[in-house]
Amino acid sequence: MHAPLARDFERSGRGLPRDIAAHVREAYGIDLTARYLGYTVPHPLGKGSGQLSLNVDQLETDREAGLAFAVLKTVIAEDESGERSMGAWAIREAKMRVERRHAADGRDGWTVTWKGRGWDRPFDDYLALVRAAGDLTRSGAMLTVPSVKYHLPGLDEPFREAEYRHTTQRLAKAWGEGDLPLEKDFSPTLAGDALANERARVLRWLREVPDQIRVAAGPRPVRLALKLMNARFDDNFQQEMMKAAATADSLVCFNRLWDASASVAYGGWDLSERNLRVLRRAREERLARPGVAGGPALVGTGNVCSGRVVLDYARAGCESVELHTIFQLPLTEYPATAGSRSQRALHTLLLHPVEGLVAGMLELEAAGVLHRKAGELRYLDLCAGSVGRATGDS
Ligand SMILES: Cc1cc2nc3c(=O)[nH]c(=O)nc-3n(C[C@H](O)[C@H](O)[C@H](O)COP(=O)(O)O)c2cc1C
Repeated sequence: MHAPLARDFERSGRGLPRDIAAHVREAYGIDLTARYLGYTVPHPLGKGSGQLSLNVDQLETDREAGLAFAVLKTVIAEDESGERSMGAWAIREAKMRVERRHAADGRDGWTVTWKGRGWDRPFDDYLALVRAAGDLTRSGAMLTVPSVKYHLPGLDEPFREAEYRHTTQRLAKAWGEGDLPLEKDFSPTLAGDALANERARVLRWLREVPDQIRVAAGPRPVRLALKLMNARFDDNFQQEMMKAAATADSLVCFNRLWDASASVAYGGWDLSERNLRVLRRAREERLARPGVAGGPALVGTGNVCSGRVVLDYARAGCESVELHTIFQLPLTEYPATAGSRSQRALHTLLLHPVEGLVAGMLELEAAGVLHRKAGELRYLDLCAGSVGRATGDS
């Protein structure tokens, strides 16, 4: 398959096929169907919350490119009087720098350096975006999900229920009919905040926040993903966090690392190394059970810069991945010569003849690790743990 894939890569670099998942299925017999928060999506590549999902134009570009889903920028919760306990997170900071980051293992990757935090415009503007997100999702154009940072109390303090209630109910109303999908962000800046220094406090948040949000939503069903931070503790604590967050529907693992000396969050290979190490251990210990009722499903994030990295997250149990940095690279970094950055990223992540997801899945098939079912290789088989066993119904 190498030669046809190389030709396809070359051709698609001048214009990505309109329905990339259908193209991959037809050309290679690969079913890329993935899941995010229980929604079925055509492939696993979505956009993580951040500066690239602030307005309808950005969403429209992503829909046209064929991204599987997009998570809106994180909004800071407020109560009916407009008071925000996490107001310090709503600072305005426009300037981002895309930089090389040298990892501990010697590999050079990319990171975006930015000192801003959450949504810095009025809540009503965010609600207008959520209205568009609900419409995009219901029309089947692209699953688009709001993200919130709510009040996080000290150990002996109560949660500010008014803030949870007001924000959740307004989001639900703006979203419109059906379940409300929501990501709750425990952001990377938080990891650098004194509040996050106490393990018991962090674990309490993870145990109690899902209920706070569901109670606040009243009768409206919420599909809740917790985006876990990389805390400033060891891998064991990351696993404790996953256990504590067991009542969420999904866990997004894990947000960026914290560089204490420069006071900035960062990514690159250090981030994917850590995330994958913890996810693999969690998998061995059966902390999360994707596809099995009762355990939160997993979504990966961090340094998804090639199809090989997508494959690593999938084999560690992630039903989809959230990307950010790859959409901000200099144009010269993408092999494609045409299209939006979202299209160029999809092109290389899926079709690169050596580093792409299709190439990686075909290689697993050739090695006898991944097996066809009804004639097709399936992305979700990678996450469901059936890789490594013959399934018998190929
Ligand atoms: C500039 C920037 C802003 C971000 N803002 C948010 C945010 O508001 N909420 C959030 O949950 N994650 C935020 N993230 C994290 C990304 O969604 C993503 O999970 C993380 O950067 C790891 O993916 P990457 O290595 O592909 O960038 C931000 C990341 C960057 C680089």
